[in-house]
Amino acid sequence: MRIVLGVSGGIAAYKAVEVCRRLVDAGHQVTPVLTDAARRFVGEATFSALASDPVPEGLWQRWEGGIAHTRLGQRADLVVIAPATADVLARYAAGMADDLLSATLLVTRAPVVVCPAMHTEMWEHPAVAENLATLRRRGVHVVPPESGKLAGGDEGAGRMAEPATIVATALALSARRHDLAGTHVVVSAGGTREAIDPVRVITNRSSGKQGHAIAEAAAARGARVTLVTSSALEPPAGVEVVHVESAADMHAAIAAAAPGADVVVMAAAVADFRPKAPVAQKLHGLPELVLEPTPDILAGLAEARRPGQVLVGFAAETQDVVDRARRKLERKGVDLVVVNDVSAPGVGFDHDTNEVTILGADGSVVVVPLTSKRQVADVILDQVVARLRSGATDARDARDSKRDTKED
Ligand code: PMT
Repeated sequence: MRIVLGVSGGIAAYKAVEVCRRLVDAGHQVTPVLTDAARRFVGEATFSALASDPVPEGLWQRWEGGIAHTRLGQRADLVVIAPATADVLARYAAGMADDLLSATLLVTRAPVVVCPAMHTEMWEHPAVAENLATLRRRGVHVVPPESGKLAGGDEGAGRMAEPATIVATALALSARRHDLAGTHVVVSAGGTREAIDPVRVITNRSSGKQGHAIAEAAAARGARVTLVTSSALEPPAGVEVVHVESAADMHAAIAAAAPGADVVVMAAAVADFRPKAPVAQKLHGLPELVLEPTPDILAGLAEARRPGQVLVGFAAETQDVVDRARRKLERKGVDLVVVNDVSAPGVGFDHDTNEVTILGADGSVVVVPLTSKRQVADVILDQVVARLRSGATDARDARDSKRDTKED
């Protein structure tokens, strides 16, 4: 694999030497790209001696028969920035391209891993947090810093993660790259809207961010993706989009897309009930609403599924979170249920972040601490890929033993 190792100007640049050595030892072709500030911390000769390629001088150099500022990014399979200073993160988030490292970041379509390193005050500054949120939303992977000794004798949060952690994370990420190639993944997203009259609807707080993040991650991993969404968010590039409004629309769209799919992920917050008789004219006065249940799309998919198809449900809960989700997993007959406690800060509806527990019909439990919805998406897809490889059969057995239990 061709890896660009970007090194920016912080004291942690000395640890980038170890990152370089470990990547080369793992058999990868590493090109170090140093910013001017990085060269003040670590000598170019050190990286040149360790890496597979010499350190390119800058933007204007020829590189492998082309120009360095585009060729490096185009040919990279993975880009790792260690350390990533506050300045580099800001310039990457802003889309600047005035040196070799920032130009490479703008050009590349390979996975990018950034490893922030800075003083605690900078790490805690809202500008840094916002830049990181922007990058995460775009699919950049962040290896968070640790607490410990910093430059100048200070101590606190902001010390770059250890080289072994960075290398393990980066290599695991790149292994995901094409692991869904050849598969068709259907994802639902957003809250449905159930008409009361032409003016009013019953809906919920779902923004569609989590479902869109799953669709984006699946496409990045090589899947053909159909996104059935009620959200007004810009859909990710390269996915087929079906816009829906109500539970009935979503039911029809999923029913059309699911039979041939390898994976269906129901991240949408589908209404459980709707007005029984929506009226054609605007209501005046206080209406008496009569509600009826909507069809359970997910349970229907489980009934009709073909062998090997992987089904993923979500559960938005506020109490007895894991127990309720486990019962849902069994009752609906799916392979995985992703449960989020939507009463917790930063979790669930409309946030850019989420914290979930992924329960498997095989008894597996994977906890994903608070992180971006994009990173949650990748961990869910890791679980999906494992089931595609092993053949998903546990869910059917679990459902058959629980099918008489009734709950929401
Ligand atoms: O969209 P965001 O703002 O990013 O927020 C994300 C989220 C909180 C919406 C998401 O993480 C989530 O939890 N989605 C599922 C919400 C939900 O409806 O949960 P539920 O427990 O009511 O439903 C369980 C499962 O059955 C879900 O997979 C749901 O899609 C499915 N369902 C529900 C009702 C119905 N009639 N048919 C269904 O298929």
